[in-house]
Amino acid sequence: ISCGSSLFNSLYFLKRGRSLTNTSFSKPLSWITENKCIPAAFNLPHGTLKTQLRGLTPRPPIPRYMSSRAPRRRLPSAFPVLDGAFQPIHNHVFEENARNSQVCLKRYMELKKKVLNGGGVNAIAHHTQKNKKVLVRDRLRMLLDDEDYLELSPFAGFGLPYGDIPSAGCITGIGKINGLWCVFIANDATVKGGTAYPITVKKQLRAQEVSMQNRLPCVYLVDSGGAFLPLQSDIFPDKNHGGRIFYNEAVMSAVKIPQVALVCGSCTAGGAYVPTLAEEVVIVHSIGTIFLAGPPLVKAATGEEVIPEDLGGATLHSEVSGCVDHFAAVESEGYECTRNIISTLNFELPEENTTEVEEPLYSAEELMGLAPKSYNYSMDVRLIVCRLTDGSQLQEFKARYGTTLLTGFARIEGHQVGIVANNGELTYEASLKGSHFVQLCDQRDIPLIFLQNTAPQPVHTLSQAKAEMNTNRLKAQGSMMSAVACASTPKITVVIGGCHGGDSYAMCGRAFDPNFLFLWPNARVSILAPGHADALVQEERETVHINEQLKKESTAFFSSGRLWDDGVILPQDTRKVLGKCLKIIKQQEYQLSKEKPKSQLFRL
Ligand code: COA
Repeated sequence: ISCGSSLFNSLYFLKRGRSLTNTSFSKPLSWITENKCIPAAFNLPHGTLKTQLRGLTPRPPIPRYMSSRAPRRRLPSAFPVLDGAFQPIHNHVFEENARNSQVCLKRYMELKKKVLNGGGVNAIAHHTQKNKKVLVRDRLRMLLDDEDYLELSPFAGFGLPYGDIPSAGCITGIGKINGLWCVFIANDATVKGGTAYPITVKKQLRAQEVSMQNRLPCVYLVDSGGAFLPLQSDIFPDKNHGGRIFYNEAVMSAVKIPQVALVCGSCTAGGAYVPTLAEEVVIVHSIGTIFLAGPPLVKAATGEEVIPEDLGGATLHSEVSGCVDHFAAVESEGYECTRNIISTLNFELPEENTTEVEEPLYSAEELMGLAPKSYNYSMDVRLIVCRLTDGSQLQEFKARYGTTLLTGFARIEGHQVGIVANNGELTYEASLKGSHFVQLCDQRDIPLIFLQNTAPQPVHTLSQAKAEMNTNRLKAQGSMMSAVACASTPKITVVIGGCHGGDSYAMCGRAFDPNFLFLWPNARVSILAPGHADALVQEERETVHINEQLKKESTAFFSSGRLWDDGVILPQDTRKVLGKCLKIIKQQEYQLSKEKPKSQLFRL
């Protein structure tokens, strides 16, 4: 995980100073509520009816606030409509893909069920009945405006050498709090007391990276026993191990990314630093504790018997140590208080898009038959694009050049985007075209959507002409990689088929730092396409072995289990997910504060 480049992006956006009016808190509260800021409920005392009802009744709709800025008008466009009809000759390909998609869907549903089951029935009973705590997904219901949040990497933690860790022991994602998109990182204490496995650390670091790259406030729901001790050497010493979470908290504060922690369980050892480095902290009475070593360790070290509440409970930290800033008598009050803190951030809400969005002309369900089982089952990518874009429209760029790459402008849920989609091999011409188009979008500040599905490349060089062609392609792909790496416009990548080796880099794979990267369940990601090991390995037995390994290790679920992406999404949900990501990315344009950072906030 490269947090350095994300930090660069964050600083970049600060530098560009896209923020707007300068509002200070000397303005009366009524000014803030009447003028486009986040709706404030912090003038209501805790324990009001609203607090008690949170999570039990549907939340009232968030009132719409008008921006004081002049409304922006889009230039009119009448992009050509793509033809999305299938040719009968392709029916068998469609059917084969649909059959494969059904198999993938089954696996997807199985994993989803496991994810919702958390640490299992016994751990759930222990958590709710003995420890009297709310389950993590119900906590999110109380924290967020609604359930329309973007969960990141829900399948992370499955199929690891050290076992299956449901949701990697913590749920991360982006949801709205009082209308503002915020990243959340919520421990699931039903998974081994919320302790951090290596994959848990990786997931939390990725969520912080998303927060930095997209300049989103970050809320931590902390309920963790610290490091999972049997794997301490994979959690503690290295740069991107546990300590990086705390390092990031300081750096995020320094670049003015607000962080709020709600202590709704144990914060033991490493877990204790999450709230102590956050900018504002709430603790829930009787269930929230913060200490470096718990009562058993105190007993072992000094022989003293001490109860958790006295050692580091809500009363101690809110009245004596000052480690926390707000005391909540019960969990529901903790969420209400956290929501109110978000209202004090002095952020502006994006203007609501009132223009009607045109739906695609073709059914998204048909994407199941277009999701290629393998490269040989790929159809014209326009058939996919026209099921994602508004009105199935696309203004194609360089339509007659480098035809194995489709590039063009479109809208997705009303947001203008540049689409870069593989439609065959990433050839010399296709790569040059890709570089040109990426730079064009960067020049115009248009977010890029990459749809990856490239042909497996034969590596054998049979002739001088072929060698020359390969070298030219290498140079052009290198240029495209540079264009993609240096483009400062937001990027979202969806692996819709297979993407292997260098093609993956040029098409903005994980290493090229897209804001978000998702996989379709049929997708395959590996250095070499499965079945093509003979291009590199001479010995037959070894070839068979490597091909099998490539097949196993390239699946979408293998990838997502290891957090090489932000999640597996169903093809039919792609438009909705992309629309949500584009809205989230856009939020950073509306922040009020534009001062350059000086230092992080110190907890004194
Ligand atoms: N490493 C490995 N496993 C741990 C663990 C840790 N740090 N902390 C807890 N676990 C395991 C427990 O062994 C138990 O496993 P089991 O379900 O297979 O029996 C499971 O997590 C749940 O723990 P349990 O104590 O039954 O649950 P609880 O809700 O009553 O308490 C904690 C949870 C985290 C408060 C408590 O377990 C605790 O204080 N753990 C020690 C924390 C610690 O000292 N961490 C130091 C890390 S450097």
